[in-house]
Amino acid sequence: MLEKTRKIWKRRVQARLFDLTGMQELLDERELHALEDHMGFRGQFTEHRRFQIDELKKLGLTPSSSVLEIGCGPLTAGIPVIEFLKPDHYVGVDVRADVLDLAWQQIGRNSLSAKNPRLIRSDDFATAELENRRFDFAWAFSVLYHLSDEILDRCFAAVACRLSSGGKFVANIQTDVDSSTWLQFPFLKRTLEDYEKAAAKHGFATANLGTIAERGFQLEGAERNNLLLQFSRA
Ligand SMILES: C[S@@+](CC[C@H](N)C(=O)[O-])C[C@H]1O[C@@H](n2cnc3c(N)ncnc32)[C@H](O)[C@@H]1O
Repeated sequence: MLEKTRKIWKRRVQARLFDLTGMQELLDERELHALEDHMGFRGQFTEHRRFQIDELKKLGLTPSSSVLEIGCGPLTAGIPVIEFLKPDHYVGVDVRADVLDLAWQQIGRNSLSAKNPRLIRSDDFATAELENRRFDFAWAFSVLYHLSDEILDRCFAAVACRLSSGGKFVANIQTDVDSSTWLQFPFLKRTLEDYEKAAAKHGFATANLGTIAERGFQLEGAERNNLLLQFSRA
């Protein structure tokens, strides 16, 4: 009996200390840092999320649209997109299982299970898993410059079979920062013409929508000069 009372008091003191020392804030901050480390931009999560959902809406996203997100990462865009869309209208694909584990946690945290999002870990843009499914939007943010030429070619080939009539593939590219690496991926400097050529091989016409800064991205980092491209098929 005395042991039980001791345990209850210990728990109460621990809970009080948890509140008094701001542990929840520390945990929230750690969670945010984990998300940022998985999406590649420390201190920029909120703006990347805001920009992406706002941009998709500007491009015509409605609750009835269907979205295939390539390189969905920890659902930086995915969470507000899933929230906005009708159930079963979002599929996220990523090559890394660990980032998808984090993504699933985020779906739970945001109470979005009822939206039935689908997340697929795949090395080949979910070609087999998606069968003949088509989408109104394919979205790839901060992704194309992490794909080697060979994988970029496979990406365009895969998306070409995924768009519904009038569907758009929208992605940002970087053209001015020297090539390096990020995690296990390359970080590649290519020209707009390189992307136009790679896309044309799969029947896509490329429209340059301007820099993300011109389109309202509010941070000062180098990625503000990224171009947003819209690829569409006749
Ligand atoms: C810089 S992160 C961006 C993540 C997310 N789009 C965002 O805005 O936060 C790039 C993502 O692309 C994913 N990726 C890289 N190569 C890929 C491939 N071949 N297929 C699918 N995803 C890939 C990475 O795992 C990573 O999650």
